[in-house]
Amino acid sequence: MSVPHKLVEVRDLKMHFPIRGGLLQRVVGAVKAVDGVSFDIYQGETLGLVGESGCGKSTCGRALLRLYEVTGGSILIEGKDIAEVNAEELRQMRPTMQMVFQDPQASLNPRMSVANIIAEPLDEHMKLSKSERQARIAELMDQVGLNRDFANRYPHEFSGGQRQRIGIARALALNPKFIVCDEPIAALDVSIQAQVVNLLEDLQDRLGLTYLFISHDLSMVRHIATRVAVMYLGKIVELAPRAALYSTPQHPYTQALLSAVPDPDPAIAANRHRQILTGDVPSPANPPKGCNFNTRCPKVMEICRQKDPEFREVSPGCFAACHLLNDDQNNKPGRVT
Ligand SMILES: Nc1ncnc2c1ncn2[C@@H]1O[C@H](COP(=O)(O)OP(=O)(O)OP(=O)(O)O)[C@@H](O)[C@H]1O
Ligand SMILES: [Mg+2]
Repeated sequence: MSVPHKLVEVRDLKMHFPIRGGLLQRVVGAVKAVDGVSFDIYQGETLGLVGESGCGKSTCGRALLRLYEVTGGSILIEGKDIAEVNAEELRQMRPTMQMVFQDPQASLNPRMSVANIIAEPLDEHMKLSKSERQARIAELMDQVGLNRDFANRYPHEFSGGQRQRIGIARALALNPKFIVCDEPIAALDVSIQAQVVNLLEDLQDRLGLTYLFISHDLSMVRHIATRVAVMYLGKIVELAPRAALYSTPQHPYTQALLSAVPDPDPAIAANRHRQILTGDVPSPANPPKGCNFNTRCPKVMEICRQKDPEFREVSPGCFAACHLLNDDQNNKPGRVT
């Protein structure tokens, strides 16, 4: 078997937003939306990124495409550090990476025709003749299952699912390799969610696309992802191949999240007891000392309140950040289960 090719390599990525206060609007703190995450995305795979609202998923996805100036760390896309490149290099890299947003309504300009929306990236990056441009628009509309005769209509004349198809067509215009899908179906009716997911999967097969698929819907991610990363309060707590993550979650946070999701396998479902997490997610402006999850973890130990656990490979291909999984910490006194 050939060695899988790493398309994206993220190391210790940090995205902190300044908090300003007082009369002079001085920086008085920071929202640590993404606080030191490391992961790879392999060519052709779908990496699912899950976690509760506000844990930093969208910020992470946007930072990967450098829609923000990141606070720290590196993001290698095909070996080039996108966090470091200058404006011109970034412009040249833009076509290879695109984003599909949650709310097609808000991300499409209501005053532009579908043709012009889809062609916007073409106009910016390529010099096409009028007929080439028209042909490419028609081809993209075919690819996403939109009637090409509707190219001159406006977004409000389409349904939610069709609008998301317009957003996908625009993302595909420049033949990207990597697409960040940020909750692409969350705003759609349940009845059409599956159609859009199937479209994304088809396109991935046909065009060899690589996805970062952000969602808080664990059942959905189970269906589409190759591997899954779980975020909590700005950090990735666990990352594993889909089957391993859903059958044998390692981190107490993943275990708690999954215990709330109905399992299709009755044998697993029967053995599962529901864990309810108590307490609120702490503020990313003021995360707890030690492990970020220690204030809510049902298995918290003394060391968890002191030391941030290292994110490391706990079994082949499975990564987690938890003191319980570090051999030297097991069986030590001080456990407060
Ligand atoms: N531009 C910004 N300025 C300041 N704080 C921000 C900004 N964008 C996001 N945040 C904060 O960063 C944290 C992470 O937000 P983010 O939108 O990445 O979470 P999320 O996991 O995508 O949540 P959701 O599931 O609700 O979409 C939140 O506390 C949010 O308030
Ligand atoms: Mg989000």
